[in-house]
Amino acid sequence: MTRPASGARNGDSGPSIRPAERADLLAVTRIENESFAQPWPYDAFDRFLGEPGFLIALEEGEVAGYVVADVTRNFGRSLGHVKDIAVHPDHRGAGVGSLLLSRALAVLTAHGADSVKLEVRRSNDRAKRLYRQFGFEPLRFVPDYYGDDEDAIVMIRKLG
Ligand SMILES: CC(C)(COP(=O)(O)OP(=O)(O)OC[C@H]1O[C@@H](n2cnc3c(N)ncnc32)[C@H](O)[C@@H]1OP(=O)(O)O)[C@@H](O)C(=O)NCCC(=O)NCCS
Repeated sequence: MTRPASGARNGDSGPSIRPAERADLLAVTRIENESFAQPWPYDAFDRFLGEPGFLIALEEGEVAGYVVADVTRNFGRSLGHVKDIAVHPDHRGAGVGSLLLSRALAVLTAHGADSVKLEVRRSNDRAKRLYRQFGFEPLRFVPDYYGDDEDAIVMIRKLG
């Protein structure tokens, strides 16, 4: 981990992180809609309730961001997957995304993941910088992954 698990940059106590609850999902969906051209619908988040890697960041009681990550068994190995991460536009650049990613990686490690992968748009420099800071390396391109002509970069890092 290249950054300590703290979101505090301005001397405050920073956001708190907890598992997602159904009552969070409207706020989550709103942030998702503001963050992505092809947002996940409400039901997609609903399916991940109870997943240990579905975490919420709270700032003053409000949902400031979230991450969705899980672990799958594949040929005897446990692969973590960060499926979605977003921070409300008003809260970006303050460490919330780093804190969410850090906690998600800790959950994946605790659930036995040997490595973790994610997909990121080739043009998403902000997210790519975040992932590189956390030790993710590009593995391969997936042409037209998003169905709008843009490639995804699959990034991967080892855990543990
Ligand atoms: C990507 C995202 C989750 C990062 O969350 P965040 O809370 O802003 O991230 P942090 O404040 O923890 O910043 C972490 C790193 O991200 C990068 N970053 C953050 N804001 C940035 C900016 N304005 N310009 C360039 N890089 C930036 C930097 O590498 C930063 O580290 P640094 O501050 O030490 O340089 C957030 O920008 C977001 O929700 N984007 C829209 C959704 C999205 O693209 N999700 C990723 C899909 S793969």
